[in-house]
Amino acid sequence: KKVVLAYSGGLDTSVIVPWLKENYGCEVVCFTADVGQGIKELDGLEQKAKASGASQLVVKDLTEEFVKDYIFPCLRAGAIYERKYLLGTSMARPVIAKAMVDVAAEVGADAVAHGCTGKGNDQVRFELTFFSLNPELKVVAPWREWEIQGREDAIEYAKKHDVPVPVTKKSIYSRDRNLWHLSHEGDILEDPANEPKKDMYMMSVDPEDAPDQPEYIEIGIESGLPVALNGKALSPATLLSELNTIGGKHGIGRIDMVENRLVGMKSRGVYETPGGTILFAAVQELESLTLDRESIQVKDSLALKYAEMVYAGRWFDPLKESMDAFMEKLTEKTTGSVTLKLYKGSVSVTGRKSPNSLYRQDISSFEGSEIYNQADAAGFIRLYGLPMRVRAMLEKGI
Ligand code: ARG
Ligand code: SIN
Repeated sequence: KKVVLAYSGGLDTSVIVPWLKENYGCEVVCFTADVGQGIKELDGLEQKAKASGASQLVVKDLTEEFVKDYIFPCLRAGAIYERKYLLGTSMARPVIAKAMVDVAAEVGADAVAHGCTGKGNDQVRFELTFFSLNPELKVVAPWREWEIQGREDAIEYAKKHDVPVPVTKKSIYSRDRNLWHLSHEGDILEDPANEPKKDMYMMSVDPEDAPDQPEYIEIGIESGLPVALNGKALSPATLLSELNTIGGKHGIGRIDMVENRLVGMKSRGVYETPGGTILFAAVQELESLTLDRESIQVKDSLALKYAEMVYAGRWFDPLKESMDAFMEKLTEKTTGSVTLKLYKGSVSVTGRKSPNSLYRQDISSFEGSEIYNQADAAGFIRLYGLPMRVRAMLEKGI
């Protein structure tokens, strides 16, 4: 009887360790994934886990995998949930849960556990991934079972079980951070009418305090995926983290929204996605050169479903995987570069180039053209408008 617990070292997950031992009589293996959240005390983490009663701590660096295999496919798909949300937390859960399934196999565990509450999306994302990858694993979600209500209860439980209470001061917000984004929920944000406090933000400056000078950057893209910054090829995670710094400095990528959670309730969230916002602008812009009208329309319509599935935790669903295959094929020619101007919270595109551009100046120019004969337009319009003429004739009795 062994369980792999998604462990952060915070109060909640520290208390889950003795709770699992007490209530399930099992050995607890703690697992911490590095998805770019900025784990501060990685050194002390193992001692901490053991002091809580874990038999061992397994740490895996998932940053490159997370960006390359989770974030970039969503970016290529143009996946945005409910018009605004760039899915930062939604994409991180399947990569973490998949690693937990692997760790469970490595250490011979028969169960997995997570510290998500029973009110949110994250529990669904973790568990759908567990189901998809190993339906035999038992899943334990202490928040849905135990009596512990708030921070005070948790501290008391920790003391009673001789678990050192983490010294890290708990923030008043519920936050989730990774290389793509930082989410803020709770406290004053729970009233959708309240403006977030200026000091809540952590990845970006207030656009009002951003530099007075705009900054130009160039993003290189290959087959729908970003590969370079200002002419320099970078790994997915390096590229994203450099863009987070640049975007954050210019106050880019703040989103304030009310969203519909999978479990039915509405919730108010504020997100910071500085690098991601820049990458979305760049990739979508290049498609204006490389994709034709119908391709863009079909792609955008599928992006809605894609985003909904990622939000809902259906990452390893064959429908979602098939949409990835579609997106990969459709964007294979989306190669080139986009120049963007960053200024006080805004990203504006100032130029785009592609060796596969479908745009032809010799056709589109207002100057004369050989390929395009203006006289052809008359016949085209007559036939294109035939149904309209027929209907009007009917109405007028002609
Ligand atoms: N509402 C966002 C989502 O569902 C963010 C969730 C943040 N999760 C957290 N454990 N703080 O993707
Ligand atoms: C949680 O309930 O664990 C965080 C919020 C969410 O999952 O949506």
